Formats: sequence, C-alpha cells, structure tokens
Amino acid sequence: MNESSPTVGRRTVLRGAAIAGAAVAAGPVLAACGSGEPTAADPTSTPADADATPSAGASGGGGASAVVLVATADVPEGGGIILNEPQVVVTQPTAGEFVAFSSICTHAGCPVADVTNGTIDCTCHGSKYAIADGSVVAGPAPSPLPPIEVTVDGDSVVRA
Ligand code: FES
Repeated sequence: MNESSPTVGRRTVLRGAAIAGAAVAAGPVLAACGSGEPTAADPTSTPADADATPSAGASGGGGASAVVLVATADVPEGGGIILNEPQVVVTQPTAGEFVAFSSICTHAGCPVADVTNGTIDCTCHGSKYAIADGSVVAGPAPSPLPPIEVTVDGDSVVRA
C-alpha cells in the first residue's frame, strides 16, 4: 500500500509536467499571434502607397490632387494590374499608353479578378472588358467599366 502511493504520485507529477510543458510551449505561440495582429493592420495602408505617397509630389509638385496609383514598371505591356485601394485597374494596351478603369464589375458589383489575354476579367459571372477602353467583350456586364483619368508622372501612373 505504501509503495503504490509514491507511484501514483510520480504519474501525477509527470502528467503535470507534460501539461505545464505544453502550456509553456503554447505561450510564445499565442504571444506571437498577438504581436502579429498589429502587423496585419499595416497592409491597409499598402506599402506601395506608403512608398508612392512621398514621391507623388503632393507637397513638392504642387499638384495636391494627384495620387500615385502604381509604378509604370508594374503595369505589364498588353496587360494590366488590379489595385485594391483605390479599386482601380490600370492597363497598358500598347507600350507607354496607360489607361485606368474602376475595378468594379458593372454587372453585379464584384471586383474584377484578372487581366489576361487582352481583357479585364470578372470571375463572378464571366464578364470580360477590353484593356484598351473598358468596353464589354463578353457579358453579362451591361456596360463598360467606368474610365478613370490618369497621366504618367515620371515613373508613376497618377490619378489626374
Ligand atoms: S459581377 Fe461581374 S460578371 Fe457578374
């Protein structure tokens, strides 16, 4: 009888140590998740915007309303790039020609998803728009993507 009590005690101690070890191991993981949350909030002010805003010339160029959308180098010739904030798709139909449109599909309001093979594509229901003028290439979209006036300022496409 006296010999079984110490055995149970050892098991209890071992279980307790295992649980404590798991808790210690989980502690840093939880702390890491907690410290990751503020980082997740940072992308709302996209790094591209953060880099682009100072070079936009808002304070130095005198054009306070000009907003840099994207670097010209980031817009593929014969294709385009979809921006999330603002919701704009910038395309380069021919070398050095940049145009932009709202990235919201005119059918039911989905954001367009791809720019491929000369069209801006909405994957919600299959609408396709021409990269040159935003016109409807394939429905069910009832109307073209609304154009957004842009110009090239140095190496950037800026909203006019
Ligand atoms: S919302 Fe784009 S095709 Fe329907």
